[in-house]
Amino acid sequence: MATTETIAASILIVGSGVFGLSTAYALAQRDAFKNTSITLLERLDFPAPDAASIDSSRIIRPDYADPAYAALMAEAHPHWRGSFGAEGRYSEAGLCLVQDSGDESGDNAAHYYLIKALENVKSKLGLRVGRREEGGQVELLETPEDVARVTASMGGDCGRRGYVNWTSGWADAEAGMRYLRDLVERTGRVEFRTAEVTRLHYSQDRVEGVELVGGERLSADLVVLATGAWMQTLVDLRGIASATGQVLAYIDITQEEQDRLGGNPTLLCETNGMFIIPPRNRVLKVARHGYGYANPTTIPHPERSGDTIAVSLPRTKQDDPNLNIAPEGDRACREYLAKCIPSLATRPWTQTRICWYSDTPVGDWLISYHPTYRNLFVATGGSGHAYKFLPVIGERIVDLVMGEERDVLGAELGKKWKWPAQRREEDQVWTDDWRGGVKGMILDEELAKGEIAAPRSRL
Ligand SMILES: Cc1cc2nc3c(=O)[nH]c(=O)nc-3n(C[C@H](O)[C@H](O)[C@H](O)COP(=O)(O)OP(=O)(O)OC[C@H]3O[C@@H](n4cnc5c(N)ncnc54)[C@H](O)[C@@H]3O)c2cc1C
Ligand SMILES: *[C@@H]1O[C@H](CO)[C@@H](O)[C@H](O)[C@H]1NC(C)=O
Repeated sequence: MATTETIAASILIVGSGVFGLSTAYALAQRDAFKNTSITLLERLDFPAPDAASIDSSRIIRPDYADPAYAALMAEAHPHWRGSFGAEGRYSEAGLCLVQDSGDESGDNAAHYYLIKALENVKSKLGLRVGRREEGGQVELLETPEDVARVTASMGGDCGRRGYVNWTSGWADAEAGMRYLRDLVERTGRVEFRTAEVTRLHYSQDRVEGVELVGGERLSADLVVLATGAWMQTLVDLRGIASATGQVLAYIDITQEEQDRLGGNPTLLCETNGMFIIPPRNRVLKVARHGYGYANPTTIPHPERSGDTIAVSLPRTKQDDPNLNIAPEGDRACREYLAKCIPSLATRPWTQTRICWYSDTPVGDWLISYHPTYRNLFVATGGSGHAYKFLPVIGERIVDLVMGEERDVLGAELGKKWKWPAQRREEDQVWTDDWRGGVKGMILDEELAKGEIAAPRSRL
């Protein structure tokens, strides 16, 4: 591992999403790296429209059952409330977590999660429980009427019970990324290049460099791979992380609707993983935190010539401009919208998108040196929940690059994020994390189930 005596003279970061860009920023700011040349490669002009980190919105929620992520969020929160979230980049309108009719047996993870969180709220000292008007930070919603009260402007039936955390909010994801990009540029320490890496050059225990489209080769003392759901083309992550496609649908609304709905809390339904983020600039978004679609693809083995491997890879509008969400995802978004906001039930989507998570088996990220190639560091496996940490994650990544444990939390996070000792069997259900939707869906099979005009204009 790198120590202060063996600081790399050159670092190549591949991928400019949350993980790559925040790493660049942290490196650029550390004294230890003041003589290091730092290059950030990104396959598309920033901001890459199909990157997981680029979208109209991302939920910023402190409600983690896991104390380590809750503690990390406690570090990130003041940034969102401060300059990072200024100029409309962050809105603290609350997160309303609900359960709908569905499995009540308690054996699904979602059910368990909410009950656990509720118990947590009830027993927590120091959090003000009560209505927002009365200064409450967390408001219990014990009946459908309670849910209807806090979601009144939506006019529908949004769930049976749950709670609102009024200290939660959501961020304009692209604006947050642009803000950070600007901070990185202003350090003057990072060279940005738009270039796609086609492969890494591996030797027995090192990465000699990377190859770009067109054949150019770049070498560096340290390569940080942060290519999100696309990781599998460059390093073998079978049984460690996998790309899952998630559905998003956007709808245009009127100014009157914007005024009525814009101040609502984000709505997240545990029973089916559906969520609605309050509209901004007259666009409302409906999405699903689901098991997602796999897109099985056979590619050359990234580390050994001659072999091939089968992995799930993203397919986006960059690959096929006509790609829209599959019928089952379209239906799920439509049904949830119609139930919660009946007045929008028949309005067509303005656009839809499949956005790709890099999913790990238990939702912990993968931020670690590679066990075989000692100058290769990976930062990925966001598992659908890394955006909210944008202001602080780079510092934690660079701590691990340097092999330093800044504090107890850092040590704990380092353990969670380290390269796993065992790869998971690929034929199992991919994630144990709580999710909505059906397990085991294949993108092409779902797309083939019916013709959906793009964008959809019937119903
Ligand atoms: C639909 C959806 C909803 C989400 N909701 C939330 C939320 O509410 N709250 C939250 O906290 N998080 C949320 N997340 C998760 C969060 O957005 C991700 O965890 C985070 O953005 C992952 O960042 P990344 O850097 O790993 O990936 P990305 O942002 O995808 O970045 C990877 C980058 O690498 C580039 N790249 C890929 N291959 C190459 C190559 N060969 N050469 C050069 N460049 C390459 C890509 O173009 C891309 O820009 C959500 C994610 C999705 C998809
Ligand atoms: C609500 O937010 C606070 C921090 O703002 C957090 O401590 C708490 O755990 C959150 N959720 C619950 C269910 O208590």
